[in-house]
Amino acid sequence: MATNYETHEYDVLVIGAGGAGLRAAIEASAAGVKVGLVCKSLLGKAHTVMAEGGMAAAMGNVDDRDNWKVHFADTMRGGQYVNNWRMAELHAKEAPARVHELEAWGAVFDRTKDGKILQRNFGGHKYPRLAHVGDRTGLEMIRTLQDHGIHQGITVHMEYTIISLLQDGGRVVGAFGYDRERGRFRIFKAKAVVLSTGGLGRAFKITTNSWEGTGDGVSLAYHAGAELLDMEYIQFHPTGMVWPPSVQGLLITEAVRGEGGVLRNKDGKRFMYDDIPDNYKSQTSTDPEEGWRYTQGDKNAKRPPELLTRDHVARCIRREVKAGRGSPHGGVFLDICWIKEKIPNSAEHIKKKLPSMYHQFMQLANLDITKEPMEIGPTTHYAMGGIRVNGDTQATNVPGLFAAGECAAGLHGANRLGGNSLSDLIVFGKRAGEYAAKYAQENSAGQINDAQVEAAAREALEPFDRGATTAANIEGPYQVQYDLQSMMQELVGIVRLENEMSRALDGIGKLKERAAKIAVYGHREYNPGWHTAIDLKHLLTISEAITRSALDRKESRGGHFREDFPDKDPAAAKYNNVLSKAADGSMKLRHEPIPALPEHLKQVIEEMK
Ligand code: FUM
Repeated sequence: MATNYETHEYDVLVIGAGGAGLRAAIEASAAGVKVGLVCKSLLGKAHTVMAEGGMAAAMGNVDDRDNWKVHFADTMRGGQYVNNWRMAELHAKEAPARVHELEAWGAVFDRTKDGKILQRNFGGHKYPRLAHVGDRTGLEMIRTLQDHGIHQGITVHMEYTIISLLQDGGRVVGAFGYDRERGRFRIFKAKAVVLSTGGLGRAFKITTNSWEGTGDGVSLAYHAGAELLDMEYIQFHPTGMVWPPSVQGLLITEAVRGEGGVLRNKDGKRFMYDDIPDNYKSQTSTDPEEGWRYTQGDKNAKRPPELLTRDHVARCIRREVKAGRGSPHGGVFLDICWIKEKIPNSAEHIKKKLPSMYHQFMQLANLDITKEPMEIGPTTHYAMGGIRVNGDTQATNVPGLFAAGECAAGLHGANRLGGNSLSDLIVFGKRAGEYAAKYAQENSAGQINDAQVEAAAREALEPFDRGATTAANIEGPYQVQYDLQSMMQELVGIVRLENEMSRALDGIGKLKERAAKIAVYGHREYNPGWHTAIDLKHLLTISEAITRSALDRKESRGGHFREDFPDKDPAAAKYNNVLSKAADGSMKLRHEPIPALPEHLKQVIEEMK
């Protein structure tokens, strides 16, 4: 019986303990409600620690021309104007306060000579805007939030996987999951739930995302009736490791380019000069000397083309590789060691500015980046799409359910600017925590439905039952997962085509059939096969969502590039793609008109042009 499962009861349950989850938990707790925080891995190990280069906030410490209006306009242009403009406005206005708050809570930022928080250049940001801690900014964010949070009486449940959201009528009233170590089921009862589970890069074969990035929050929300927004927009970060194969996809921070790193093909040519989009021409330098001065803080210089937006840089790299001008292992070269021509003691300079990159390459590839260029290539990095939320409150369309951070959609439109994710986490994590607490204070606890709990438990255990049979042709979850990741990489990746995506959709259908028959063996205590079987449901759900949305959008915009429709379609700029689960269980897509920009924001965009 469901009542036999150990039950934890909270006002607000936060699922996911990265930057958004921790910030939401802190805010809810500060509002005086009882908060539980569940995370899939150990506290402190969230994928946020892999966000390296910094958090974007228009503080104007390095260039006093910066302000929220410029940041807002940059975010909208980067997102190609399909962003939730209210979120872009709130983000630009509130990010500086959230960064200062982190500082007050103990974050040790790099400093300008006069003691302010140092800010660095990143692609698509007009001015140096990324507050940073070397190339370990995400790590410092998590350390700070965690230190602050544990003094607030938040209860943390580490190494738990949530397998379904529990509902009373339409309202979310808790979650059901299991502890990964012992495999025991648990009920988490809550008046409000915040999803902050991060990304979904693990739907693809090559990704910066760590193992947790299986889109759990997006899938849990969808199955509970929440709408998904713009799932076609996936960001392929231009610079991931391509060699050795064991670390393929691992992030190489954009900060390398922000500090003067340049991209070259196998002939040594800086190929980024070959294709500068019209809307960035006025800001982009065609003179290498000027580009270098820009990276060193010359306010009058224009940015080098390596700092164009990520979608564009990633496609240029792909073009070089396809044309046979790539590096030996299928990428191109990212060169920071060339700055020895400019800076005495350049090796020390690089180690100081990019300590993690130095160690990453020394340890994983036996390569000294102060002496040799890195081999790099695009890697699946970030989902701009996700759970549809209210821009102010982060509430979903399902009562009692909130979402923040990467699993929530809207802020970044069709393409996220680097550094806007860390600031997204703290701006909207705070808001989600605030409004979830308010909801919890205004509503009494709902009823847990035993039948729903039992059904979720049965479904979760089914692969063990199949493992108990002796049928020879029963397959495990790994091959299905691998086939899905390979297919998504190949057919719904950085460049997309109608017929390939249609094949992917058929493929997902077949993989679902295989997934329904997979078996796992052994017992429930720390059983990786079982964990993978459970993740598979999420991966298949989000892969279908990405593919359906990408098939529908017959244009190219931001992270969604269609070789068969390479241009933007002005009519398609007027709507977002919204997915929801129909009564028959199928996935339905509709176009939702984007509300017109209010006059004051229209003016900001005009001014900034
Ligand atoms: O390149 C990076 O350091 C990644 C940062 C981001 O995605 O915001």
